[in-house]
Amino acid sequence: MNISMIMNMSINYVIKELSENDIDDYRNIRLDLLLNESESFGSSYEEESLFGDEMWISRLAKNNVHTIGAYLDKEIIGIIVLVLNVRRKMKHIANINSMYVKPLYRNKGLAFDLLNFAENIALSKGVERLNLSVVESNLIAFNLYKKCGFKEYGIEPDTIKIDDKYFSLRLMSKVIKKG
Ligand SMILES: CC(C)(COP(=O)(O)OP(=O)(O)OC[C@H]1O[C@@H](n2cnc3c(N)ncnc32)[C@H](O)[C@@H]1OP(=O)(O)O)[C@@H](O)C(=O)NCCC(=O)NCCS
Repeated sequence: MNISMIMNMSINYVIKELSENDIDDYRNIRLDLLLNESESFGSSYEEESLFGDEMWISRLAKNNVHTIGAYLDKEIIGIIVLVLNVRRKMKHIANINSMYVKPLYRNKGLAFDLLNFAENIALSKGVERLNLSVVESNLIAFNLYKKCGFKEYGIEPDTIKIDDKYFSLRLMSKVIKKG
């Protein structure tokens, strides 16, 4: 298991990959992000709050999915998910999703560290490029990804619809290793 201890001026936290044993932490932070940031994610609290344990466990057990958490003592305070492509011809590309830091712990560099951690796993698996998408109006996340080296390459229109409101996605990509 990959673990990294991060210390900065204001907060000392640990970043690690989650396993099936971390089901409660995973469920809690995932439902937290869907409830509090519903406009930033394609899935919904209404759907996922109905999931049983087996669904949460199966997500954590997938070989090509790396779910990474930031912990302050025993509390999970941030999450990011790296999804490796299983197709032979697309193994050089992986996706980042589910980036979330609990409001109390924002602006301390956690998301930056979570992204770095995910990028290092991707590199160790031979990935050359990371892709992600971010809701067009989410400038905080967009700025973070730009700062981390992602470049916008297009807009996917009206991907998310909540009631009668549509949200488009900025598509972003970063080359992490030259092929
Ligand atoms: C986006 C998010 C993950 C950032 O987490 P964070 O831990 O606060 O981010 P960091 O502290 O690592 O910030 C890194 C960079 O992000 C940007 N950023 C973070 N907070 C910002 C703010 N309040 N205003 C403007 N830019 C901000 C900056 O570019 C910052 O760089 P800087 O420190 O040089 O200014 C967090 O705000 C969040 O969970 N938001 C809700 C969920 C979400 O939008 N997820 C992304 C889905 S694609």
